This record gives sequence, C-alpha cells and structure tokens, in this order.
Amino acid sequence: MRMVDIIHAKRSGEELTDEQIQFFVDGVVDGSIPDYQTSALLMAIYFQGMTEREQSTLTMKMMESGDHLDLSGIPGVKLDKHSTGGVGDKVSIPLAAVVGSLGIPVPMISGRGLGHTGGTLDKLEAIPGYQVEISEQEFINQVKKEKCAIIGATGNIAPADKKIYALRDVTDTVDSIPLIAGSIMSKKIASGTDALIIDVKTGAGAFMKTLDDSRNLAKALVGIGKGVGMQCMAMITDMNQPLGNAIGNALEIKESIELLRGEGPADLEELTTTIGGYMAKMGGKASTVEEGKQLCEASLHDGSALATFRGMIEAQGGDGNVVDDPDGVMPQAKYKIEFPASKAGVISKIVADEVGVASMLLGGGRQKADDKLDYAVGIVLHKKIGDKVDAGESLLTIYSNREDVDDIKKILATNIEISESAKPMKLIYETIE
Ligand code: URA
Repeated sequence: MRMVDIIHAKRSGEELTDEQIQFFVDGVVDGSIPDYQTSALLMAIYFQGMTEREQSTLTMKMMESGDHLDLSGIPGVKLDKHSTGGVGDKVSIPLAAVVGSLGIPVPMISGRGLGHTGGTLDKLEAIPGYQVEISEQEFINQVKKEKCAIIGATGNIAPADKKIYALRDVTDTVDSIPLIAGSIMSKKIASGTDALIIDVKTGAGAFMKTLDDSRNLAKALVGIGKGVGMQCMAMITDMNQPLGNAIGNALEIKESIELLRGEGPADLEELTTTIGGYMAKMGGKASTVEEGKQLCEASLHDGSALATFRGMIEAQGGDGNVVDDPDGVMPQAKYKIEFPASKAGVISKIVADEVGVASMLLGGGRQKADDKLDYAVGIVLHKKIGDKVDAGESLLTIYSNREDVDDIKKILATNIEISESAKPMKLIYETIE
C-alpha cells in the first residue's frame, strides 16, 4: 500500500477502506508517514468528508493506536464531559468539582488550547504546582478519594491523535466533523469512561459556525459513543459571545473559583448546573435533570463544590490556597488597561473568536506549537450582549504584560458593536441523546 494512493483516493472523493485507514494511523504513530503526507490527507478529508463507516473506523483505529485505561477499580458510574472548544469556556473546571461533590466519580481527560480556543489543561497549569500528567494508578486513586481529577491524555492514550491534533492546528484543518469526532472519541473511548456529555459549541467562536454543522457533529459524536456501548449525549450551546466574563488562563481559574463560591456570572452558572444536572441523572444521584440541577446549585452555594475543588488541586500537586486568594497565588499582569465604550447604547455583538485571538496575541494562547504561555494575561468583560452602556464607560479590562496594546484595542474595537438594541441570545439550543 502507498500513502500517495490513499491521498489520491480521498482527494477524488472515494470512500477509504478499513485497511487504508489502518495503514494511515499505523504510519502516523510509527513515523513512517511524513508530516507532509499526513497533512495532505487531512486536507483531503477536510474537503471530501468521510462516511459514517470511515469516521467510526478512523476513531477506533486512533483509539487502538495506544493504551486503554482500566477504570473498573473505581466504584460507580464514571462520568466525563468534553467541549468541542470555545472562548472563555471554563465549564469543565468547576463542573468536575460540582459533580464530584455529589459523590459521582469524574475522571476527566482534557486538552490544551487549539486555534483561538483555550484549553482546560493550560488554565489549570496557571495554578502553581498543578500536575496534568499523573500515572494511571494515581489517577484512579485520586478519583476514588477526591471524586474528581482533570488530567491530560496520559503517555500513550491515542498517540495518533497527538500527532494529528498538532498538524491540524497548523494546517487549518481543525473544523472538520470526522477529524473532531475521531479526535475526541478516540481519547474518550480509550479513557475507559462509562458515560460522556459533549458540549458542542456553535457560533462565531466555535469550530462549527452553524447550527446544522453543530447538529451533524453532535450526532456523529453520540453515534460513535453509543456504538461502543457508552452512555453518551450532546448539548449544542452558544459560542457567539465568550462564555462568562473572563478569557485567559489565570483569569478563568479565578472566575471558576468565583462560581464555586456561588458568585459566578449567570451564563456560566446556568451552563455548569444544567450539564451537571444531566450528569447527576446519568450518575444515578437524581431522578430528573431538574433535580440534578438543583443539587448542583446547592453545592455551589454551600461550599461543598469548592471543598472538592481544593481537594483535587492539592491531590495533583497544586497550591490549594488558590481558592482563598487567587490573585496572591497565580501570576498577575503588570498592566490593567480599561477599554471605554465609543458611544452610549446596547451591546449587540461581541465576536467570540476575535476576542479569543486578542487574548492569544497578549500571550494567553499559542501562535506556534512550542510557544510558552503567559498565564496572567487576558481580557475581562464588564458588559455582555444586551447590556446597556454609557459613552466612555469601560466595556472590558485588558490584562497585559506589555504597555502598548494598540493592536489588541484595534481588534476589540472592530469586533464589539454598540447599537440601539440587541437580539436576545440563547445559551442552550438543543440536546442530542
Ligand atoms: N477537542 C478535541 O479533543 N479535539 C478536537 O478536535 C476538538 C476539540
């Protein structure tokens, strides 16, 4: 078999055989296929798509490319949650603690930032000492004791995805349904979770910009999960404007802690407790989603979720004092620069992906794979779509370690709109079960 023939077949719109997909995944993992041929096939998949059979074969071969975690030592239904990626989307961080505080084991395997989106692991690393790489046995012990852990795809979980993920990021082939589905589900199946909720983001700041594409991705993800016997559902949720107010690694951890104190922004609390409500039902702690949601709300307001969060941070080597004094423990930006409204009115647009790009350019995200992150920088919004503003009132604060942020202000000025009125925003569009 020759890789060039596989590229030619896909480029011409043909369906790849199981053997061709196996050859490709094997070659990616053992290094016999050079990056330029892998990239060419990724681009051909991007344009030609994949059938349901190809998509599920690609997922299974990527999953089989590495180890399979055995979580059977953890009693109860093991639940995980994954997002397809957004701006300001820090839900996984408080959610693991909220659901864990209900006594449901949450062994969460998360990722790093991709494109303009932030990554859960990058955010957690803003907490001094926090280890995202722990051994399988430490992971299992921690989930048994603390009820939750958030780690990276350890050592040899879906190694094919590691390579393909990095190449997609630099070849502009991220927003492809079969490639996203293969990437997420290969890791989730290998991680041995019993049940999974996927938050499929839709809109300007998501990889899927339209509701139709988001629905197709949600169906693909749920279909693959159910095909291997996993309890699996997806929620399609808004990513036209950033979620919550904070964008940037340490800033998002601080906002997660505020939420765990019952003082978080309304949209972040609503999404976290709704997903938590479904998880409480899947985990057998509630008979309805509404009852589960109420349990999650209670845990945010009675301190139990915050205590579980502290337990998880300390178990993974992080400084638990972060929950009492986030600013004292995590790195702080040198400059805090206000961004005033050019006129009075109502905020009608905050283009999420461009705000994500602005945070990345401050140093909060990677422009090249080996870029070092600046955990302190980012943006905190003071206004969201639908809010009234006066001329000259601050719309947001830019947290920066450089004094000159004219480039950032230029991006924000063209991507935040003030009008007479604003269309009402939906937070949750639909669920796919
Ligand atoms: N998260 C992943 O793990 N992979 C993707 O492709 C997108 C989001």
